[in-house]
Amino acid sequence: MTGISINQKESYSQLISITRMNSHYKINFFWILLLFSSVLFACKTEDAVIPIPKPDTIVPPDTTGLRKVSPFPFGAALSIDLLKTKAIYRSTVIKEFNSLTPENVMKMKNISLGRGQYKWDDADYLVSFAQQNAMRVHGHALVWYKSTPDWVTNFAGTKEDWKLILHEYIVAVVGRYKGKISSWDVLNEAIMDDGTFRDCVWLQHIGIEYIDLCFQYAREADPNVLLFYNEYGTEYSSAKRTAVNKLVADLKGRSVPIDGIGLQMHTSISRANSDIQNAIAVAAQTGLKIHISEFDIKVNPDKLQDIIFNATLAAAQKEKYRITVKALLDLPASQRYGFTFWGVCDTNSWIPAEYGCPDWPLPFDSNYKRKDAYSGLLEGLK
Ligand code: G3I
Repeated sequence: MTGISINQKESYSQLISITRMNSHYKINFFWILLLFSSVLFACKTEDAVIPIPKPDTIVPPDTTGLRKVSPFPFGAALSIDLLKTKAIYRSTVIKEFNSLTPENVMKMKNISLGRGQYKWDDADYLVSFAQQNAMRVHGHALVWYKSTPDWVTNFAGTKEDWKLILHEYIVAVVGRYKGKISSWDVLNEAIMDDGTFRDCVWLQHIGIEYIDLCFQYAREADPNVLLFYNEYGTEYSSAKRTAVNKLVADLKGRSVPIDGIGLQMHTSISRANSDIQNAIAVAAQTGLKIHISEFDIKVNPDKLQDIIFNATLAAAQKEKYRITVKALLDLPASQRYGFTFWGVCDTNSWIPAEYGCPDWPLPFDSNYKRKDAYSGLLEGLK
């Protein structure tokens, strides 16, 4: 009792009881806070930014996923926003694919903010995601007439100055991902449907030599990365088909580095099987690797507004999926570079917005369920 008076003792026990009351309130407050946060968390799961998982938290690939059952890589063009925010999108990608193509974030307009100024964060995110989930990255696309930033369009300089900015850009981008990216669409859509070269700022300011330079600069920046020419429409235009092979033969003949052809294959159920098979077989005559690089099959090519996705359309789509995979499988193994969808599920396809009508072009439905088209892939792989 030394040193504590009765009054002091009373004050002391009052203090203890106030402290106990406070702890009681604190405990109640703690449980209320926990409950409130759980409710909030449950509501926000779909929207929350998902960090790149640590390797030990990765969803194990489904043994029935395309990445497991195919002798060549399967992939999809990925939206950085969906990958960061939508858990089912992310888990489907991890389960099914072992290759990814950035749908937009590696395009020049997205990555090149000005001369010597780059926006790397989204592209870096995709590359880390791929590394952590044992996927290869196919870079898309170094030079594409539709993705020319304003600073380039407005650039004023001599032919040599234009070569310099092309060189700076390609070396910076390919160099940054050296050893992390397996392949690049170096040049995208440089040929018109009639087989002539497409006009673009690089052609205007450098001349046709710009094509050689794109491939040479990419090779200079990464001696091991595979270099692709990527094109659409070779299934419907024989002039374009011929022009692509002529371009490739010319490049090879002059030892300009090129390793593969990307056939985009944005096509539809009304395209004849033989057109698709022929486009693949003709491109393969070059001896280069063949990438079905942006595959989707429209079921509403007539752009009807009141159409519904029924069993007949699903069966027609399944058949196009089957024969296309089979055509790739029929090539020598060394030429089958892979098969990439332009999106994952129907609701993330670019087609409805672009064509202004409903469509269901991809292998997964709006709930990420495998469609009949997916079974077509499996049948084509047998
Ligand atoms: O990110 C912005 C967003 O912030 C903004 O609110 C919104 C408003 O429109 O635009 C968003 O950007 C759009 C982006 O897609 C993401 O949705 C761009 O405007 C739009 O131009 C861009 O379209 C892409 C298009 O290439 C042009 O780059 C499509 O997603 C993409 O699927 C498409 O892909 C091309 C291949 O690269 C080459 N082959 C053809 C294929 C289809 O066109």
